[in-house]
Amino acid sequence: MRRFVVIGQTATASPEFSLNDIAGTAGRLDVLLRCLRAALCVSHGLRDDTTVYLVLLGGERAPRVLRIEGAIVRFVRPDERSLGTLVQKALAVESAGPAFTPLRRGVCVAEGALEVVLADLGPAPLYLLEEGARDVRAAPLEEGAVFFLGDHRGFDAASRARLLALGARAISVGPVSVHADDVVTLLANELDRAASPAEKPQTQEPR
Ligand SMILES: C[S@@+](CC[C@H](N)C(=O)[O-])C[C@H]1O[C@@H](n2cnc3c(N)ncnc32)[C@H](O)[C@@H]1O
Repeated sequence: MRRFVVIGQTATASPEFSLNDIAGTAGRLDVLLRCLRAALCVSHGLRDDTTVYLVLLGGERAPRVLRIEGAIVRFVRPDERSLGTLVQKALAVESAGPAFTPLRRGVCVAEGALEVVLADLGPAPLYLLEEGARDVRAAPLEEGAVFFLGDHRGFDAASRARLLALGARAISVGPVSVHADDVVTLLANELDRAASPAEKPQTQEPR
């Protein structure tokens, strides 16, 4: 099981945004939508071993969290507009409280922020994705890892401090600061490669 948590400091928790201009009207929700695509969508399908949490800290209805489970969610298309529609519909529904409330198959909403996610995750190895941290290839990732990513602004200080206090390990996917969705793709690739049997290098028989 892979879990990704993207913390959107300005991403809106309200459904009032334009699907024609998500980047301009939804507090950079577009950054989180691209992470969702990168985490869940593969060519002609969805990853059924992956769950994504979008922590929405912007707008009047904040804070709220959406949880999307690749194992059971249906009708997810990889384009940003379709994902924006999925999120907009989910945010239009009143949510009951800090427990995740199912809205449709595989999509749940909860009132709250990081603490709600942590309660839902239970005990798990936590990794904080950060430029300049230890390389992800320096040591194998633990089974059941949960990956936390920031948005276009990075992490807010309180979330970062809370995760480190919980023992989250800071790791990087490479020496360059890249977009959050690219980080998700690179991490998924690392996990895919680790899960596949290693290809034996071609060797010449001694003559
Ligand atoms: C566009 S970056 C944010 C850049 C922002 N200027 C900062 O200083 O955090 C978005 C998120 O992607 C992740 N990220 C970007 N490059 C990374 C890298 N090389 N290794 C690990 N995580 C990275 C971090 O979680 C970061 O919060």
